[in-house]
Amino acid sequence: MSNNDLAVIILAAGKGTRLKSSLAKVLHPAGGRTLVEHVVRSCEALKARETVVVVGHQAEQVAAVVEPFGAVTVLQQPQNGTGHAVQVARRAIGRAKFALVLPGDAPLVRTDTLRALITTHRNGHAAATILSAVVADPSGYGRIVRKSETAVSAIIEESQLTDEQRDINEINSAIYCFTIESLWPALAQVKPNNKHRELYLTDAIAVMSAKGETVLAQVAADSREVLGCNTRADLAEVDRIFREWKRNALMDAGVTIQFPETVLIDPEVTAGEDTVIEAGVQLLGKTKLGARCTVKTGSVVLDSALGDDVKIETHSWVMESRLENGVTVGPFARLRTGTHVKAGGRIGNFVETKKAVIGENAKVPHLTYLGDAKVGAKSNIGAGTITCNYDGFQKHPTTIGKGVFIGSDSVLVAPLRIGDHAYVAAGSTITENVPDDGLGIGRGRQVNKPGWAARKRRELAAALGPKKSSRRSNRRKSRSKTRRRK
Ligand code: UD1
Ligand code: CA
Repeated sequence: MSNNDLAVIILAAGKGTRLKSSLAKVLHPAGGRTLVEHVVRSCEALKARETVVVVGHQAEQVAAVVEPFGAVTVLQQPQNGTGHAVQVARRAIGRAKFALVLPGDAPLVRTDTLRALITTHRNGHAAATILSAVVADPSGYGRIVRKSETAVSAIIEESQLTDEQRDINEINSAIYCFTIESLWPALAQVKPNNKHRELYLTDAIAVMSAKGETVLAQVAADSREVLGCNTRADLAEVDRIFREWKRNALMDAGVTIQFPETVLIDPEVTAGEDTVIEAGVQLLGKTKLGARCTVKTGSVVLDSALGDDVKIETHSWVMESRLENGVTVGPFARLRTGTHVKAGGRIGNFVETKKAVIGENAKVPHLTYLGDAKVGAKSNIGAGTITCNYDGFQKHPTTIGKGVFIGSDSVLVAPLRIGDHAYVAAGSTITENVPDDGLGIGRGRQVNKPGWAARKRRELAAALGPKKSSRRSNRRKSRSKTRRRK
C-alpha cells in the first residue's frame, strides 16, 4: 500500500537521564545499531511522504545517523515533553493526512507491525490508533484506559495512576497513528499538568476521546516489539532480543550455532549453508561468510569477507580482511586491516598480518609478523619471520615471490623483494633483494671450537676452588660413594 499521505515523526530529542550517560539515549547501541537507526530503518519501507526526526540533545550526531535515510530533522529546544516534540515537528510536515509517531528509544518494532497499525487506523476512521501491548510487568509505562472493548478513553502515565489503574497490564508503546486534522487541535488543548511541567502527547488521547472522536488501540502480537529503553538494563534486554532474532534468522538459513546465547552477530552479517559458529564467537559489522565455514570458540570477525570452506580456529581476530575459499586461520591469529589470503592459504598460530596479500596455498604456519607484504603462491614462511616494514618514519613494502622458502627466524628489512623460488637461510637478517632461484643468507658464520666447553669448566674450577657445601650433604655424598663401591 502506498503511504504518500503519511508523515513519520520520530521523537529523539531527549537526554535519557535514567541512563546516566554523556551520550544521548537514542545514540546508544543495541543489537549492533544505535536505537534511532533501528527506528528509522523500520519506517523506511513504509515509503512515507516525509520522515521528520525531532532532535535536541546531541542534535548533530543524531542528524548524522538519520539523514542518510532521507529523514529531515527539526530542533526541539528546550525539550518540553513528547506533546511539545510533536508540535515542533509540525513545521516540517507538508500535506500529509496521517502521522505515524514513534519514540526514538523503542527500536524493536517491525515494519509489518507498523503497516498493520496504519491499516487499522485507516479502516477504523480513527482520530488516533495506539499500538499497545499486554505485558506481565507494566511498571514504567503509560496504561491504556478503555471505555469499551474497542475504544480508548485515555492513557495514564505511571506517576498519575490511581490504585485501580495500576493493575492495568495493557501499556502504551508510544507508537501511534494520528489523523492530522484531529492531532493539532487536540495537542493545542493539552496542558502541562504533571510534576515535570511537560506537554505529554499521551494527554492528547483523552482530549480526542472527550470530543467523541474514535481512539483505537491495537495490541502488538509480540509484546517484546514495543520495549522502550530507559535504563541500561532495558538496553541489555533489547540487545539480547535483537541478537536472538538475528541468530534465529541465520539458523533458519542453514547455519549451525552452538550455545546460541553466547554468540553475538551484527544485523548485516550473512552466512552460507552448513557454516558452523561455535560458542563465544562474535561476527561483527558487514562480515560475510560463505558456505561450510567454521568459526571456532572465542574468535571475532569484523567487516570481513570469507569464501566457502574457510576455517577460523579458536581465539583469532580477523578485521577488514578477505579470506578466499578453503583458507585456514589460527588458532590465536590476528589478521588486521587489509589482509587478503587467497584460496587454500594458511595462517597459523601467533601470526599477525596487516595489509598483507598471501598467495594461493601459501603457508604462514606460526609466530610471524607480515606487514605491507605480498607473499606469492605456495611460498612457505618459517616460524619467527618478521617483516620490518617501519623505519620510524614510513612504511615500506616487502614482496615475496612464488614458491619461496623463508627459513625460520628471518628478519626481512623492507623495502625488499625476494625473487620467485628463492630461499632465505634460517636466522638471516635480509636487507638486500634476493634474486629468483637464489639463496639469501645474512648471518654470522658458525665456528665450532672442539673441547672449548670442557676446558672452560676446568679453568673455572681451578680459579674458584672446590665447591662449598654443607657438612650434612658431604656426609650423605661420602656414604653413597661407599655404598656404590661395595
Ligand atoms: C513514553 C510515554 C509512555 C509510554 C512510553 C513507552 C509519554 C508522556 N509517555 O514514556 O506512555 O508507555 O513512552 O516507551 O509520552 N522526547 C523528545 N522530546 C521531549 C521528550 C521526549 O523528543 O521533550 C523523546 C525521547 O527522546 C524519547 C521519546 O520521546 O525517544 C519518549 O520519551 P521518554 O522520556 O523516554 O518517555 P517515557 O517516559 O518512556
Ligand atoms: Ca522511553
